Amino acid sequence: MTAPMADDVFRQLRDFIYEQSGIFIPDNKKYFLENRLGRRVQEKNFKGYDEYLYLLKFGGDKNELIKLFELVTTNETFFFREPQQFEVLCGELLKKIMEENTKAGRCDIRIWSAASSTGEEPYTISMMLMERSEAAGFRKEILASDISESVLASAKAAVYGSYAIRNVPPAYMSKYFTNTDLNYKLAESVKANVRFMKINLMSDRDVRNIRGVDVIFCRNVLIYFDEKAKQKALALMYDALRPGGSLIVGTSESLHNITRAFRPAVINRVVIYQKV
Ligand SMILES: C[S@@+](CC[C@H](N)C(=O)[O-])C[C@H]1O[C@@H](n2cnc3c(N)ncnc32)[C@H](O)[C@@H]1O
Repeated sequence: MTAPMADDVFRQLRDFIYEQSGIFIPDNKKYFLENRLGRRVQEKNFKGYDEYLYLLKFGGDKNELIKLFELVTTNETFFFREPQQFEVLCGELLKKIMEENTKAGRCDIRIWSAASSTGEEPYTISMMLMERSEAAGFRKEILASDISESVLASAKAAVYGSYAIRNVPPAYMSKYFTNTDLNYKLAESVKANVRFMKINLMSDRDVRNIRGVDVIFCRNVLIYFDEKAKQKALALMYDALRPGGSLIVGTSESLHNITRAFRPAVINRVVIYQKV
C-alpha cells in the first residue's frame, strides 16, 4: 500500500500535470490522483508520491512523462458518438467546404480530430465521408491526434471490442468491419484516410505545423481544462483552421464566455463555431 498523498505533494503534482497538459485537477480531487498514480508509485518501488514527483520534475525521463499522460487522461470514446454532429459535417458543412475549396482551387477536405483517443471519432468521420458520393472527387485527409501514445497505438491497430462498435449502424458494420472472435477489425480503406500524430493541445510547437484545416473536432477534452488552458488550446486551434473553417466541440461543452474568436452558428440543432 502506498502512503496517502500529502497535501503539498498533491498540489505540486497537480500543478505539474496542469503545466504539461492543461488538465486541471481541483482541490477536492486528491483521491483521483491517488487512484491513478498509486500503482505507478508501487511499480517504481517508491516509498511515497514525493519520490514520484521528484522523478517527474528532475529525472529528465521523457518516458515517465508519457506514462503520466496515460495515467491522468480519460479516454472514453466510441464510434458514432453524438452522431448528429457527424451528420451536419457530412451534410451542410461538407457542401460548404466543397464549394469554398473548389473556388480556392483545392480538391481536398481536411478534418482534424484533435483529441482522438483510440480512433473511433476520426474513423467514424472517414467512413461517413466515404459514403458521400458527391465528395468522391475530393481527397480526404483526416488528421487524428492525442497527447497519449498508448491510445494512438491502439487507434493505429484499429481492432475494437463490442463496447466501441455498439452504435455503428448495421450497414456500416457489414461494409467496414470484419468480425474475428470477440473483436472487430476495421477495413484498411477506412484507415487509409486517417493519419495519426502525437499532439499536445497545450504545445505551440506541436500545433504549429498544422495549418489550413477545414473542420476541427475537439470533443470531450476541453472539459478537463481550466479556462486559461481552454483559451490557449482554442487560440492554437484557431491558427490551424483555414479562414472560415469550423470547430466542433462536444455537445455538453460551450465556448460561451471563453473566446470571441469563434462565432457560433446552429445547423440542425448542432452548434458549429466558425473562425471569425
Ligand atoms: C474523453 S477522450 C475524447 C475522445 C473523442 N474526442 C470523443 O469525444 O469521443 C479525451 C482525450 O483527450 C486527450 N487529451 C487530454 N489532454 C490532452 C492534451 N493536452 N492534448 C491532446 N489531447 C489531450 C486524452 O488523452 C483523451 O484521449
